[in-house]
Amino acid sequence: MLIQKYFVTRQKLVDDALEEYFVLSSRNTSKFDKAVRYSLLSEGKRLRPILLFAVYEMLKGRKNIKSLNKIMPVACALEMVHTASLVHDDLPSLDNAKYRRGKLTSHEKYDPATAILVGDALLTKAFEVLTEMEDKKKAVQCIDILAKAISTRGMIGGQTVDLLSADKNVRINVLKYIHLKKTGALLQAATDMACALCDVEENQMITLGNYALNLGLSYQIIDDILDDVGALDILGKESEDSKNHKTTYATLLGIEGAKKTAEKLLSDAHKMIKNIDNSDVLVEFINRIKERLP
Ligand code: IPE
Ligand code: IPE
Ligand code: MG
Ligand code: MG
Ligand code: MG
Repeated sequence: MLIQKYFVTRQKLVDDALEEYFVLSSRNTSKFDKAVRYSLLSEGKRLRPILLFAVYEMLKGRKNIKSLNKIMPVACALEMVHTASLVHDDLPSLDNAKYRRGKLTSHEKYDPATAILVGDALLTKAFEVLTEMEDKKKAVQCIDILAKAISTRGMIGGQTVDLLSADKNVRINVLKYIHLKKTGALLQAATDMACALCDVEENQMITLGNYALNLGLSYQIIDDILDDVGALDILGKESEDSKNHKTTYATLLGIEGAKKTAEKLLSDAHKMIKNIDNSDVLVEFINRIKERLP
């Protein structure tokens, strides 16, 4: 299968499954149901669920695509958590963003109170969905991994330090911490949950987790470069970092320095996985992130 097709088919799988979790019944359609669908079913790249599939299929072997249905709750939970984080990140009291995924943010389209509740609804639904897994022992393992990744030691911790660091002189190590937590933690949850589902040895779980952290850090550095150069058409969102007085790798190292750092992280990520059998999709993740560089 062409690698491009891998991403397209898996993305469609996630889009369809997410839609099923939030089907609108014509009898019972509230403004709030519409608001949840508005953010979740918008044009996200679905990178975290696809990373879960990629690691799972690398470890188990690529079979009929239907075999992924078994882990669909895990894929959807990742995307629900990610979308919740974006809805809350965009709120007036955080980044105050007007556009997301090429359209108005939740609070602009509806109102901030609705956007807060949309985030809450998606975050809690993610855990409800995980309990639907047939293998309850694996469900609990995934709940544990995901909860820790979102926690104050993970994504929320990163977002908190990000928030506290606005308007301040931030050193590169603090910035690295912010990126690894706010963006890396959820990507690492995707590889960790795939490993847990496949019962792999701890060593391999750690290697794949480090690969995911490198992806996360480089992804955020490059996303911030795109924010800096105002790549609205690629990002589907307006520049916000300078307006919000955020320090980025680009403000500390210059655009060229930031690019070099991201490229080095991606090349290290490649070294971590190149000797694993069937790691072609993981290599493609690296290529796709590198291709975002302006
Ligand atoms: C956006 O993540 C937030 C960052 C980590 C920079 P994505 O670029 O994966 O956003 P969507 O889900 O495709 O909209
Ligand atoms: C967001 O970082 C990371 C999370 C939502 C956890 P940013 O604030 O840089 O992301 P964008 O630019 O709004 O997508
Ligand atoms: Mg932010
Ligand atoms: Mg933001
Ligand atoms: Mg940004």
